Amino acid sequence: MTFVVFILMLVIRQVIFVNTEDCRTKENLNHEFAVNCDFLKLTLIPSMVRFGLNPIKFISISGDANNLNNIPTIRKTDFQAVSRVTSLVISWSQVKTVEDGAFEKMADLKTLSLTDNELESLNATTFAGIPLLKELDLSGNRICKFDETIFNNIQSISVLNLGDMNLLFIREDFFNSLHSLRVLKLYTNHIKTVSENLILNLPALENLDLSANQLQTIPVEWKPKFQTMKRVHLVENPLHCNCLLAWLQEQPYQTTLDSGSLVCNGPQKLRYSSFLNVPDRDFVCIPPKVLHCEQSTYSVGVNQQLSIVCEYGGDPVPEIKWTRPDGQVYDGRNTSEGGYHVAENGTLLIYRVLMSDNGLWKVTAYNQTTSDNMLINVIVRKAERTEPQTIPPIFKPEDCNFIHNEAAISSTVPVIKISKILEKGSPKADVATAGIDMGNIYWVLLAAIASAAGAMVGLLCLLIMFCKRNKKPNRSNQIRAFEHDI
Ligand SMILES: *[C@@H]1O[C@H](CO)[C@@H](O)[C@H](O)[C@H]1NC(C)=O
Ligand SMILES: *[C@@H]1O[C@H](CO)[C@@H](O)[C@H](O)[C@H]1NC(C)=O
Ligand SMILES: *[C@@H]1O[C@H](CO)[C@@H](O)[C@H](O)[C@H]1NC(C)=O
Ligand SMILES: *[C@@H]1O[C@H](CO)[C@@H](O)[C@H](O)[C@H]1NC(C)=O
Repeated sequence: MTFVVFILMLVIRQVIFVNTEDCRTKENLNHEFAVNCDFLKLTLIPSMVRFGLNPIKFISISGDANNLNNIPTIRKTDFQAVSRVTSLVISWSQVKTVEDGAFEKMADLKTLSLTDNELESLNATTFAGIPLLKELDLSGNRICKFDETIFNNIQSISVLNLGDMNLLFIREDFFNSLHSLRVLKLYTNHIKTVSENLILNLPALENLDLSANQLQTIPVEWKPKFQTMKRVHLVENPLHCNCLLAWLQEQPYQTTLDSGSLVCNGPQKLRYSSFLNVPDRDFVCIPPKVLHCEQSTYSVGVNQQLSIVCEYGGDPVPEIKWTRPDGQVYDGRNTSEGGYHVAENGTLLIYRVLMSDNGLWKVTAYNQTTSDNMLINVIVRKAERTEPQTIPPIFKPEDCNFIHNEAAISSTVPVIKISKILEKGSPKADVATAGIDMGNIYWVLLAAIASAAGAMVGLLCLLIMFCKRNKKPNRSNQIRAFEHDI
């Protein structure tokens, strides 16, 4: 019997401990043990029982970019026997999943680092049973999904690293339960905006790292918070140096902030300027303005599509809203409602124009304090008049002027000819002595041609007036043809 057990143990040992041979162990002065299994290219979490050491306080199972472990799952059974561990590191190990409650037997766990893995999802149950956890490092897990429950079981953490996790946006109340949070690292993500409330409810916060994100501005509401904090990192953000960011340049923040390394990304004239070198007066805002719209009047058949394009000015870039003649409002860039879309660039798109769209539309560029607007007339034509869409452009007064000028030019041609004849055929003396009659003939000829040309111009303009009044497509075509003949 004992022999069988012995054989069995040998087999188990062979199977389970096969790749744990090179873990090193170390004892400290307090007779606590550390197990170090770094750089072993492991495929399993080594069994800790095997070391027979007590108590094991520190475990490290790690590699680096060139020495990855391949441990797809941290199992619930992996750490059953090591209840005294206070620090656990499993990094560079291609971990994809952590079984629910995987750490729950390590009730003393204070530090947990799972950096540079491929964690796919985390939730409250991942961290069940480790309520004393103080430091959590999840950085470098770039495809990890988690929700607002993630901290439910670890509310006393004081150091949290969510750097390099491809985060786009963080809910304003995401950290609210973390009353002991002292250090918050969110570097190297893609965060574009931060809510004013994101950090205001974190009484213990001392150190915030938001470097290498996409932030253009920092809420002025953070001002009092920054006064109590020790360190704030904002480098490598595309900071927009306008009036909203001027507060950040004030003296008290320069020691807290890495302001010596901050660079303005905008507005254009301040681009690449060192933050500290920009004078106060250059941190300016420009009020919202509707600069101009492509047309002031649109004429469109019912059920047709209409887009109204305007240009807007202002720094910061203003919000845009459109008000329908009946008062209905379409508010905000890149928003849709019914058949109406306000594009990111502020353009209004109406997919199918209704009779109720007829009238004066108002476009407003605004921020919280000021606004500017412009009215645009939309004329909605009834269904039977959808054809006119294809009418060639109607003559404008300038067109008439143009034709008139051309006629005038062509009428000068004969005049030039006549003067040439005069010059060539008869020197002044000849005309004076022998050719008074000749001279008269030339003048009569000149007058006749000039009046003919004048008559033609007159006729032409009459015809144009006629065509303008009738606005018939065929007519205007004729006039175009006539114009060519001239
Ligand atoms: C947490 O995630 C695991 C899978 O990773 C899932 O099985 C479990 O139901 C989730 N728990 C909660 C509370 O969402
Ligand atoms: C709105 O624009 C005005 C004028 O540029 C500016 O002074 C003000 O700070 C802006 N308000 C906000 C909240 O952006
Ligand atoms: C516009 O909004 C849609 C969803 O509402 C979103 O997918 C898209 O990325 C937004 N586009 C821009 C330019 O913000
Ligand atoms: C604005 O966006 C719309 C829809 O995305 C596009 O059709 C239009 O050409 C854009 N206009 C300008 C002026 O960029």
